[in-house]
Amino acid sequence: MSHQATVIGWLKDAYALETSLIPALKKHAHDLEQLPAAHSRIEQHIAETERHADLVKACLERLGDDPSLLKAGMANLSGMAKEVPMALAADTIVKNALSDYASEQFEIACYTSLLASAQIIGDQQLASACQEILADEQAMAQWLAEQIPMLTQHYLEQEHARSLGA
Ligand SMILES: [Fe+2]
Ligand SMILES: [Fe+2]
Repeated sequence: MSHQATVIGWLKDAYALETSLIPALKKHAHDLEQLPAAHSRIEQHIAETERHADLVKACLERLGDDPSLLKAGMANLSGMAKEVPMALAADTIVKNALSDYASEQFEIACYTSLLASAQIIGDQQLASACQEILADEQAMAQWLAEQIPMLTQHYLEQEHARSLGA
């Protein structure tokens, strides 16, 4: 397989990953309605994620891939972006943050690899797109890393208050 065909396959995986993350992020934003600052940061990343999908799709089209075949990538990665199965737990906002952090780190790994491949095949436009996306993913991962202690404390305080009220 040519390098270009390999990179096209990886871009399809990235497109499938971005589009699969949007519903999870929407649910997690909804779960954070009690915490407006965190809610709006997730909303911002939903918009960024939609843009990432568009950037990846534009690269695929430029490399000559048929966008109607994009769904082919879905099966490959559908398991990787799956949420940790912790639904319906009272500590949902903590579990969501852990799952989102894992997803961001996986995205960082994917775009670090795609950036390296762009440099190897000498595709400057793809390299720029990867760098732009990576900056968003790294900022989101950093924000989540900072939020996890706060969300954990928030949950434990609520749990403590509930136990006193019981
Ligand atoms: Fe993304
Ligand atoms: Fe992301």
